[in-house]
Amino acid sequence: MGKLSGRIAVVTGAASGIGRGCAELFASEGATVVVADLQEEAGREIADAIGGSFEHVDVANPASVEGMISHAAERHGRIDILMNNAGIDGAQANTADSTLENWDQVVAINLNGVYYGMKYVLPHMIEQSGGVILNTASTVGLNAVGAMPAYSASKAGVVHLSKAVAIENAMHRIRVNAICPSVVLSPLLENFMARMPDPEGARQGFEMLNPLPGMVTIEAVAKSALFLVSDDSEFITAVALPVDGGYTAR
Ligand SMILES: NC(=O)c1ccc[n+]([C@@H]2O[C@H](COP(=O)([O-])OP(=O)(O)OC[C@H]3O[C@@H](n4cnc5c(N)ncnc54)[C@H](O)[C@@H]3O)[C@@H](O)[C@H]2O)c1
Repeated sequence: MGKLSGRIAVVTGAASGIGRGCAELFASEGATVVVADLQEEAGREIADAIGGSFEHVDVANPASVEGMISHAAERHGRIDILMNNAGIDGAQANTADSTLENWDQVVAINLNGVYYGMKYVLPHMIEQSGGVILNTASTVGLNAVGAMPAYSASKAGVVHLSKAVAIENAMHRIRVNAICPSVVLSPLLENFMARMPDPEGARQGFEMLNPLPGMVTIEAVAKSALFLVSDDSEFITAVALPVDGGYTAR
């Protein structure tokens, strides 16, 4: 018996990186996983490999998120776990030089997308008297960084929104938490480093970022996510858990 035996889990952004790692681990622990993403081909491949299903979604579009939730609920009869994980980093620029388009896009995906996911899944979880929501924030949502105003604000928003929704829905036995990785070696980070003037220097800098040696791995984030969506954390709600090798303690 796995830790998630018989559970239905929807994971957004599951065609790549952290979402993919979580989808694979949740499935290996017995969950039936709905792999939800913009990327159809990669998403279908992963869904097939883990015995789940694929759902095309644009988390920045409320109708698309509503469709993802209602299709998953119709197909499986319930949704036990929703991981709102899809996100982008956006452009790197100081606020004065940043564009309105970048602000709107990053907030639409990283923050509005999390709100839509919760808004549309909560009626199902309230009706079934329970459920678990895990939202991927970032250490950047706890400790601000420069030159990423939209990303920082969106991730801080995810942390606070998660806590607010957790308090509001605790009476329904719905737990809501945020997970806050520091820099994780994923395709998002590879692209981020490739856009920097000195990618190799950036990589070395990120290796030294956390008090624990090395970068956070996708597997480490997935194991922490498994803890937060399984009964192992049955009385934990409204937390923003750093997975950061001690980074935010400084
Ligand atoms: N990599 C890091 O260093 C790091 C650190 C902290 C937090 N995070 C967060 O973790 C989450 C996953 O990041 P990752 O590093 O795995 O990135 P990734 O780029 O590898 O994966 C992100 C996935 O989200 C999907 N996606 C993007 N926009 C979407 C949209 N509008 N609708 C549906 N799907 C969409 C992409 O297609 C992709 O499959 C993000 O929220 C990110 O902000 C990443």
